[in-house]
Amino acid sequence: MNQLYCVSFSPTGTSKRAAWQIAEAFDCEKTAVDLCETADREIWAEQKDVGIFSVPCYGGRIPQTAAERLSRLHGDETPAIVCVTFGNRAYEDALLELADCVEANGFRVIAGCAVSAEHNIMHVFGHGRPDDLDRAEIRRFSTQAVQKRKNRKMNRPSLPGNHPYKEIHLARTAVLVDEKTCTGCGFCAQECPVQAISADGRQTDEQRCINCMRCIQICPKKSRSISKEFVTALIQKLGPDCEGRKQNEFYL
Ligand SMILES: Cc1cc2nc3c(=O)[nH]c(=O)nc-3n(C[C@H](O)[C@H](O)[C@H](O)COP(=O)(O)O)c2cc1C
Ligand code: SF4
Ligand code: SF4
Repeated sequence: MNQLYCVSFSPTGTSKRAAWQIAEAFDCEKTAVDLCETADREIWAEQKDVGIFSVPCYGGRIPQTAAERLSRLHGDETPAIVCVTFGNRAYEDALLELADCVEANGFRVIAGCAVSAEHNIMHVFGHGRPDDLDRAEIRRFSTQAVQKRKNRKMNRPSLPGNHPYKEIHLARTAVLVDEKTCTGCGFCAQECPVQAISADGRQTDEQRCINCMRCIQICPKKSRSISKEFVTALIQKLGPDCEGRKQNEFYL
């Protein structure tokens, strides 16, 4: 093996951490590819390379920004491992869609997983996950994927989901800024994956915003938020589907 590309679209960091955990089992040079970056960097992977692709599930699909930016990576029958993280509800067609996108760009999916995580809007669900138990399961899976790669088995495992994919219906909400505490440092503007924030951090373009929660997570002054009423209504609507401990799923 030549090179491992660790590719993620991960506004709040969970999918990126999962990707690197999978990557740990591979003993080779590793390159990070961050699809939250807006700079358009194209990469051509070779057959002897490997790609790990990890993104969150949004409404049972993959974020459409991620789907578009995945085309920055070109494979040449390059083996790939796909991973979606989801907030302890369900991932529906997301893993299938990710695998299809990656294959459309020349990779060959040899393994896939769905990792249950803390929901980055409704934090009570999946709180603290992935935890040690999850990490042990991911480790087992990645060791098996390494073995499959070594044995040159290139078959795509059967992944759950449907064609056509479910339609995207995402409840959206405005990101609020507390003018009293915001210092105008502009960090949120630099970090927004879709450039929806003005340079001083005070304005958010609601049409561009994908409600990814990154600016809320990273603001050093905790000046950004979404309304409590929105979160409460979402918990009321989706809560019953998010209860309990959802299992991770692994496909080889
Ligand atoms: C807009 C949006 C939609 C989401 N939709 C789902 C969903 O359909 N099912 C689910 O279980 N979690 C859902 N989540 C939770 C995320 O998938 C989960 O928190 C994920 O681990 C975040 O990944 P990241 O930290 O890499 O950004 C959603 C989160 C956001 C922001
Ligand atoms: S990161 Fe926070 S403090 Fe800085 S501009 Fe953005 S909202 Fe204001
Ligand atoms: S403005 Fe919207 S898209 Fe940009 S970081 Fe904040 S929540 Fe994400």
